[in-house]
Formats: sequence, structure tokens, C-alpha cells
Amino acid sequence: MGIIKPLPELLISQIAAGEVVERPAAVLKELLENSLDAGATRIDVQLEEGGVRLIRVTDDGNGIAPEDLPLALARHATSKIASLDDLERVGSYGFRGEALASIASVARVSITSRHASQSRAFRLRSESDPVEPAALAGGTVVEVADLYFNTPARRKFLKTEATEFAHCDEVVRRMALARPDVAFTLTHNGSAKRRLAGADFPRRAREIIGEEFFPHARPLDAVAGPLRLSGLAALPAYSRSGRDEQYFFVNGRFVRDKLLTHAARQAWADILHGQRHPAYVLFLELDPAGVDVNVHPAKTEVRFRDARGIHQFVFHALQRALAAPLSSAASPPEASPAFVPSAFSYARQSGFAVGEPAARSYLEFARAAFDAAETAVSPAPTVAYPEDGSAPLLGYAIAQLHGVFILAQNANGLVLVDMHAAHERILYEKLKYSLDAGPPATQSLLVPLLLSASEAEMATASEQSEVLAELGFAIAAAGPRELAVRSLPALLAGGNAVDLVRSLLRDLAEHPASRVIETRRNELLATMACHGAVRAHRLLSPPEMNALLRQMEETERADQCNHGRPTWVQLSMAELDRLFMRGR
Ligand SMILES: Nc1ncnc2c1ncn2[C@@H]1O[C@H](COP(=O)(O)OP(=O)(O)O)[C@@H](O)[C@H]1O
Ligand SMILES: [Mg+2]
Repeated sequence: MGIIKPLPELLISQIAAGEVVERPAAVLKELLENSLDAGATRIDVQLEEGGVRLIRVTDDGNGIAPEDLPLALARHATSKIASLDDLERVGSYGFRGEALASIASVARVSITSRHASQSRAFRLRSESDPVEPAALAGGTVVEVADLYFNTPARRKFLKTEATEFAHCDEVVRRMALARPDVAFTLTHNGSAKRRLAGADFPRRAREIIGEEFFPHARPLDAVAGPLRLSGLAALPAYSRSGRDEQYFFVNGRFVRDKLLTHAARQAWADILHGQRHPAYVLFLELDPAGVDVNVHPAKTEVRFRDARGIHQFVFHALQRALAAPLSSAASPPEASPAFVPSAFSYARQSGFAVGEPAARSYLEFARAAFDAAETAVSPAPTVAYPEDGSAPLLGYAIAQLHGVFILAQNANGLVLVDMHAAHERILYEKLKYSLDAGPPATQSLLVPLLLSASEAEMATASEQSEVLAELGFAIAAAGPRELAVRSLPALLAGGNAVDLVRSLLRDLAEHPASRVIETRRNELLATMACHGAVRAHRLLSPPEMNALLRQMEETERADQCNHGRPTWVQLSMAELDRLFMRGR
């Protein structure tokens, strides 16, 4: 006798349910997607006991006709696609026609709905029961009660009520970000948890991600052929210890995708400390035919036809948005006030009539910085502040504080600049730029700089002389334990060359790979920038401080140092007033 038997229909559904209905949040996601597919503009979610006891989703969508009600609960029955062609360019959230059937196999499901064409509502309590008349003004109510009542083994895998609720809440957050135009409410055990009115994206993002994210978020909107990437990306000054604020949507669908996460990770790699995670809400839009959403029943994974192209596009669009100089960040594409961090808000008004010529070359600036004497505070004469909005973004220097910070006055109030960090960032970007443009400009030293060196340093200097030359250094042995530096990059000519060369040799010794210049170039440049940058406790004159501010405004990524720390902060007049409890 044969031992292979067809599985009963219920068991098939229960097996399938394992993939779609792993926890209450997964059920909620399916129900919300159905409501959105039905064109809902407001959706109310009621949960009991983390969604295990009850999930009720009420929407104002198109509704379901009575003759369709039993089919809604049947496996592989859907109103959303009819052919393979439809599947390949699916624009709805659902299309597999199995969510409700799977859910109904492991919970008690009832659907009440009034189709737009009907004068009354109908209810279905289970697939085998008859459809009965019911009371409902419009839309659909789906109730899922007693999840896993018939599969106790699964029920054991559920976490605490609080945890299950937190997962449900996260599902609502994602949907709410994807569809700011739709109003949502969320209630748990009778108490209201979220109440979101239909809004525009900036406002919704503010409600969902919170106030702290906002001042650091840069808007982006990049288009390349059929691809578009838009949303908000946080500068490194706002980073997270986990990935909890990373929202990526592909054609409106929240996804976890390795390719996209990787592209984002790379865009931040150069500016974010390795242990920190970026925060973003990003929407990738493309032709539905270019992406396969039918990879997994839960549909949070996707497969791109042109994976490489997508990766490149996302990486570059993000990198550009994050690197844009401060002055260009001042005019975000969406001219919504919510998008404009306070520090940037006034620079849009106009260009500036410079009160302090920023004409000094960088080199002059660096030299002056290093030649200057040591002192703690250097007051600068108060600058008559142009009231007509013609001042530069970071304003004018008014003092140097303990040789560490520059204080400047701009239209918003007080700007505090970490002198060393800011200078380091400027140098780093300049070094990268100059190396990209060809061999760097070097400065030959009339009298070679001699430094005593260990045997290891001597060896590194000779083994890596080509790499050193590419970076702009000419270093040769001058004796058995002595090196002579004959030239160095012009950009670094003002710094402490001995420390610089020692650190560089140490870096090179650690990574004796032959192609070190390609693989570790930016790390080497960071070392160089760090040693070339103005040290704390150097007195800067007002023109030097102002020159630094102007350089910052022009430099890409100037608002964070190479280690992802901010290089400047704004204290607005309002914030200062608050410090002094001054009513305005
Ligand atoms: N809230 C709702 N409003 C209107 N129709 C719905 C709703 N929920 C489910 N349906 C109908 O039930 C069908 C089956 O739903 P589901 O099992 O989730 O499969 P899918 O969404 O993949 O089509 C849908 O195709 C749709 O026609
Ligand atoms: Mg569905």
C-alpha cells in the first residue's frame, strides 16, 4: 500500500500559516495591507493582550461584496492579480491570496463588510458558515481572535504581551511612514496608544521617529532614469547603537534587504564611527517589473533585476546627500519648514556680502595657525552684524574659548566650533580631493627635516617609499638610524611634520599590504589630516577664525569630523533664552 497521501486542506493552511503568521504583528501587517489595498483613508487598530486575544482592524475602504466573503477566506483566492503578467508588475501589497486563509486556520476570524455598491453590510464568521446580514456604515472590520487556539505548540513561542504589542506597534509605525496620507489609531487593552491624523511626510516622520532625529535629518530626492530615492537621512551627529531607526521602503513596501542596507552602510562608512548605526527613512521607487516581491510569503524580502545598478544608485544618492556642503543643504527640495533644521534655515535668504575677506589661502591660514603663540582666550573685536540676512551661514567669529572652541555669531544665535575637529575635516576632504585629481602638490623643504627612526621605521620607509611618494612625501635614509624628509604635501606644510611622518609610518607598518594605497587610502589620509590640523591651544586671530568658518561652509561633510563627531553646534537665541528663563 502506498504511504504518500495528500494533506488535508486545513493542515496545508496551518503549514503555510507558519510562514505568514509567525506572531500577532505578522497578522496585523497582513490586515493593514488589505485595508490599504482596499483604498482606506483611515484605519483603526484595536488589540487585546498583545494581539493574541484579539486583533480588530476597521477601515473605510471599498469593502467586500457578500458573494466574495467566503472567497476572501479561501486559499489562493485574490481580487488583486489574475495572470503571471499581473504578478510581474504587481502594484498592490497583497497578491498571494493566502493571508486570510492562513490566519483563519490558526485563529477565529470574522469579517464584516459593506461593499461600496451595497445598501447593507454582511458578516462571515468562518468559511463554512453562511453569510449573514450585519450592521456597518461602510468599509470592513476584520477580527482575529484567540491566535493559535488550535495549535498550542505555536502559542508557546509567543513572548510576553508587552513584547508582542511592541512588535504590533512597530508594524503600525512602518505603515504610517509609508502612507502619511492615511489616518491611523492604535488601541491596546482599551487605552489609546497612537492617534495619527492624515498628514504630509515630514509631519508624519516627526510623529513616528521623534523630535531628536529631525534637526540632523537631511532631505533627499534623487532621480536617475526610472529610479527615485527620497526621504530623510540623518547626519552622523545623530546615530544609533542599533538599526532600529532604519526604514527602507521599496515601492511603498517596508523591506529588509541586504543590498539596500549595505549600500546605505557604505554611504555612511566614511563619516560614521564603526560601532554606530545610521538612521534613515528612505523610499526607493522603481518600475514594479524591476523588482520581484514574491520572494517570501511575508513579502519583506525583495529581489532586484538590476541589483548592481540599484546598489550604485542608492549609495551615490545617499553619499551626495550626506556630503552636500552646508550652504547647499540650506535649500532642501521639499520646501517644508519641518524639513529645515534650525541651523540651516536662514542661509536660504540670500548669498552674503562678506564683511571679512575670506581670501586668505588655506596655506596662509594653516601657517598662521601654527605660528601663533599659545594662549587660552582670544577675544575678537565685535563684528557689526549685518541685520539684512546677508551674513554667512556660520556667521562671524567673536572669540576663541580655552584654545579649543571658536565662538561665532550667526543669524540664529551662537555657533560653537570644535576648532581641531573642523580643521581636520577640511584637511581630510582637501587631501582626498587633491589625491583624486592626480599627484598631490608637494612642498620641498630647503633644509631636509631629520628625524631619528627605529629599525622598523627605517624598514617601512624604504619598503613603502612608493606609497609615501604617492601621498606626497619624499623620505630617505640619512644615516643608519635617521630619516630625512625632503618634501611633504603642501597642504600639510604647516603642521608638525615629525609626528605626522611617525604616525604615517606606524600606519603603514600595520598594513604592509602591497596595495595599501588603494585599500587603506582614506585611513592614511585621516592620519595625515589629524596631524596636519590645528592643535588645541593655538591662538587664532579673528581673520584666521573667520577663514576657518568660511572653509567649513565650502567643504563637503564639514559638519562632522572623520570620527563622526559633530564639528559645530548651533545654540539658537531661543535656546539661550530658555537657559536664562527669559520670556520673549
Ligand atoms: N479590508 C479589506 N477590504 C476589502 N477587501 C478585502 C479586505 N481584506 C481582504 N479583502 C479581500 O480578500 C481577499 C483575500 O485577502 P488575502 O487573503 O489577504 O489575500 P491578498 O491580499 O493576497 O489578495 C483580497 O484579495 C481582497 O479582495
Ligand atoms: Mg492580503
